[in-house]
Amino acid sequence: MVTKSEAVSKLKELSDIITKSREAYFNFNQSDITDQEYDQNISEFANIIAKYPELEDEYKVLDQIGAIPNSKFKKVKHLSPMYSLSNAFTNEDIYNFLNQMRSFLDLSGSEQIDLVFEPKIDGLSLSLIYKNGYLFQALTRGDGQIGEDVTENARLISDVPLSIPVKNGTLEIRGEVYFPNSTFSELNDELKIKGRKTFSNPRNAASGTLRQFKSNKNRNTNLCFFAYSVGNAPYRLADSQAMLLKIFNDLGFKTNNLSKVFTSVEKLLQYYEEVFSLRPELDYDIDGIVYKVNDFRLQERLGFRSSSPRWAIAHKFPAEMSITVIEDIEIQIGRTGTLSPVAKLKPVNIGGVVVSSATLHNKDFIKGLDNKGNKIRGGADIRKGDWVTVYRAGDVIPKIKDVDISKRNQISKPFAFPDHCPSCNTKVKIDESDSAIRCHNSQGCDAQIIAGLKHFVSKKAFNIDGLGGRIIEEFYQKDLIQQPGDFFRLESKSKHALNLIEFFGKGWGKKSLKNLFNSIEKARLIKFERFLFSLGIRHIGENASQVLATYFDSWDVFYNKIKCGISKNDKQFLFEIEGIGQLMVASLVEFFSDFKEREKLDDLLNYVKIENFIKSSKIETAITNKKLVLTGTFKGFSRAELKSICERHGAKVLTALSNNVDFLVVGQSPGSKVKKADQLGVKQIFEEEFKALIDYSL
Ligand code: IVH
Repeated sequence: MVTKSEAVSKLKELSDIITKSREAYFNFNQSDITDQEYDQNISEFANIIAKYPELEDEYKVLDQIGAIPNSKFKKVKHLSPMYSLSNAFTNEDIYNFLNQMRSFLDLSGSEQIDLVFEPKIDGLSLSLIYKNGYLFQALTRGDGQIGEDVTENARLISDVPLSIPVKNGTLEIRGEVYFPNSTFSELNDELKIKGRKTFSNPRNAASGTLRQFKSNKNRNTNLCFFAYSVGNAPYRLADSQAMLLKIFNDLGFKTNNLSKVFTSVEKLLQYYEEVFSLRPELDYDIDGIVYKVNDFRLQERLGFRSSSPRWAIAHKFPAEMSITVIEDIEIQIGRTGTLSPVAKLKPVNIGGVVVSSATLHNKDFIKGLDNKGNKIRGGADIRKGDWVTVYRAGDVIPKIKDVDISKRNQISKPFAFPDHCPSCNTKVKIDESDSAIRCHNSQGCDAQIIAGLKHFVSKKAFNIDGLGGRIIEEFYQKDLIQQPGDFFRLESKSKHALNLIEFFGKGWGKKSLKNLFNSIEKARLIKFERFLFSLGIRHIGENASQVLATYFDSWDVFYNKIKCGISKNDKQFLFEIEGIGQLMVASLVEFFSDFKEREKLDDLLNYVKIENFIKSSKIETAITNKKLVLTGTFKGFSRAELKSICERHGAKVLTALSNNVDFLVVGQSPGSKVKKADQLGVKQIFEEEFKALIDYSL
């Protein structure tokens, strides 16, 4: 039996080890101890706390289940979402980017769109909010909607002005925090001397430093900041990105001196090569170049997709590669039953990140064939024990570039792709629509159900903090959670039927549970589009969920309509929605007509409150809440832009006419819809009239 003073010193020792390894794992994706060692430490810790419960408050290690990264920072909702960028890898992707914008804006090929070239700094994005001229709050990006409040630490960055000469209103400046290469090795040397773990690259050093609690309150010259965009502003600061960058300098911010405006895409691509070769000499890491439309009026017209702007793109540098060996080939089963092969690699460092697995895509990829049946890698297959070249581009999962057959063990055998699900042993089938190999036992396959539950609590769905993958698996294995509604019964179950702390033992304190129940309680109120996404219906991803939520506004309307449609065998109303394709309609119908899915859904609905879709724009005009159909071509804007304008005004755009439609908007050379509108008595409005209705001027 340990004495209290022994307990105190042991708790301190354990809490340091646990905290350090959690930070390493959750913030820097690296682990300094094995999972078993970690679990052992936690269970030792929990045993001591069980004997001396009064010590629990002093050591907060058991606070979090699965460890929420940096929970010490307050979570704050961003004033407006912090978007990410879509990626381009080739010059052709850049020409496509320009063509897509031209087509959206209905510009001809010869009309020029000026682009601003800005290095893509490989750091952390930061939002700085100034109120009446003073730094009020600094937030990390977080999930784009909610960030962490790192104000106290941001104040220590000497590139972050504490006051700016915009003295009225709220101004939000966004940019990138980075750790300069020149001082990075000094930092690691210092850490080594102190016997602490070093950072594997400057990006991790920036993230670690920004999230560290400092006792020293002097301004810190190590972290740096480049400003590149404005979030909220009391008035329009500039008409173009180039002008904005100059204004940032006037306000006291640093901007990147390699930024430049280009009127020709060829020159821009030449400069990309130049900057790429400059890369080793720069004092900050860059992982590509960002191209932004210079003219803010065009940016506004182009608007946003669900998570990235249409007016900017990140042109990534070629991926970094390393050679390693495949230790094993595993099959993972996704929530829709797809069997995905994954290569487990001997850990290898690729451009500063330790990689231990890579996707093998599908059965054909392993065999040396692409999705059209053509040979890749000269037709060489991939086997356990092979030496392979692995590459990493951006944040995406590492991939395999090539295999070195000369190093292959002569007795190795080709990989035998399973013909039965490794989890539930059901015979698998090839899906005609995407050639994926799939287990169709959706209701009875443990791996699929667990993957569905993980998806349900994930960031973009219910976003329940503190429920890591391992915990969900444990909950499922121990029969505590079988379907989404069970998450919401957990607290009452734990009060009445079982003691969760005893049930799990290691790692579970009273506080851990309280935090978990709080996050589950908070998650009950959910937005329509997130709720729909959380159901994990095949083909109904973030975008489709958003389209459906925009269209139906309220979950109840959507659910009643789909139930009624299914009983009447009517899918037409789904086909009418722009952006909802055949595959989506088929899987919506399949999901909602499945008795068991409906039962689980109805059970879940007892616990949640689904908020109506909130329109991002508050513009109210004569078309708000009206249903429109478009026909013909329009002067000055494309069909896609017209649709996006209608949606900003709160109107719904349908593909087909019916009695329900309020207006047919008629452009030049309209089709047969005019005649149909005459027959149905649907009001027709012409382009100029339409523009007047919505008060639109180009
Ligand atoms: S613009 C809506 N400009 O890249 C526009 N981002 O994948 C959003 N980044 O989260 C960002 N340098 O952390 C922009 N010059 C730059 C950038 C930059 C680095 C990062 C930023 C963002 C990520 C987007």
